[in-house]
Amino acid sequence: MPDGSAGTGETGGTGETGETGETGETGETGGTGGTGGCHPALPARPSVPYADSVRRMNGTRPSRRLEGRYEEKGGCMPTEAAHSVSLSLSPGVAREVVAAAAAAPSIHNTQPWRWRLGAGGLTLFADVSRRLAVTDPEGRQLLLSCGAALCNATLALRARGLVPRVTILPDGDDHRTDPLATIILAGQRPADDAERALADAIGPRRTDRRPFDGRPLPDGAVARLRAAAEVQGAWLTSLTDPDLRVQVNVLLSRADWIEQHDAAYLRELASWLRSEPAPDGVPCGAVVAAGATRQAEFPLRELNLAALADPPPASEAGVERPGVLLIGTDADTAADRLRAGEAMQRVLLTATSLGLAASPMSQAIDVEGLRDRFRAATGGLGQVQMILRVGHAPAGAEPLAPTPRRGVDEILQLAD
Ligand SMILES: Cc1cc2nc3c(=O)[nH]c(=O)nc-3n(C[C@H](O)[C@H](O)[C@H](O)COP(=O)(O)O)c2cc1C
Repeated sequence: MPDGSAGTGETGGTGETGETGETGETGETGGTGGTGGCHPALPARPSVPYADSVRRMNGTRPSRRLEGRYEEKGGCMPTEAAHSVSLSLSPGVAREVVAAAAAAPSIHNTQPWRWRLGAGGLTLFADVSRRLAVTDPEGRQLLLSCGAALCNATLALRARGLVPRVTILPDGDDHRTDPLATIILAGQRPADDAERALADAIGPRRTDRRPFDGRPLPDGAVARLRAAAEVQGAWLTSLTDPDLRVQVNVLLSRADWIEQHDAAYLRELASWLRSEPAPDGVPCGAVVAAGATRQAEFPLRELNLAALADPPPASEAGVERPGVLLIGTDADTAADRLRAGEAMQRVLLTATSLGLAASPMSQAIDVEGLRDRFRAATGGLGQVQMILRVGHAPAGAEPLAPTPRRGVDEILQLAD
């Protein structure tokens, strides 16, 4: 048994159970209150299968789910479930797994998750008190963030030679009250090199908003990133068509403009920017002025409120042209959003393992009307769930400091 981490349990898991005794919090309060923003003051102001068309564009085979890993309610039994005796997660391993999960990216570093270890396994819940009420009223980005945490948790288990069996939304699809996922152990099998590489990338992965240099992505990188998304049941396409790049650029700029003129959005953003040490939120050191200080083909979400109030002159440097990846799903259910979050994270970890830098540009996904236009611009089918810029940090660039996380004790509950 790998590092004594799992003990044999008395029950054979059916994979259909989860922790059902606890409901999610229903508070809709948005942020937890900031410790001060990086700025002196606020400026005054049903889907159809897209995957097939994307795969035709990409020239890839239909996506492949993680063999033996996934089960949605009523889904297929994983191969490892043939074991007659299930394994149970020890609290010690659960703590390590939850710590790895917590290293996941989340919108504004809200870390909108909590975990419970009980007889039914390790259960993930949304912490809706951390949902961004203005930016993310539906909880879309919250679910993507939780999906990213779920991806880390399963990789952390695999790195320990344990085979997780995941049930997405075991009790229903209301993320405010229902568990998002349960994980039970279905067996043991040593991690392969690819799984180890992804697990090793969990710690060093960063959101890198700095300008990328002009080097193209290495040969085969896009294929690796696409495969990572497809393993999680999502699709990925690299935005190379010049017309599409212009359209996506316009939508990102429009989203930025809308949000930058929405006082409630700006107040909410300010409440998650941190000028003092804090366990959550975006530290000022991680913020790079998105628009005015550099010329980039694609506008990042502007997180530097001071730059909005007093824009510095544009740089004369060459225009930055990053790789742009769209990650999406055929449908847009809560399960699809979780799956897209898992895919995003697997793509980001793959990028890290390839020595590439990346950052999300999700502002166009925030705005409902723009999501529809996005769909039209990118082929008219399916749901784009995330936009990533990816490229090379300039040679010699300082490694980025990790952003803070809440402690495991705050997010993991051990059931009696
Ligand atoms: C769903 C989601 C949306 C995000 N959107 C943006 C974005 O639009 N712009 C941005 O700069 N960062 C974005 N981020 C990155 C978060 O700000 C970042 O993950 C968080 O601050 C923690 O930092 P880290 O990723 O370096 O650990 C997003 C992350 C997630 C999971």
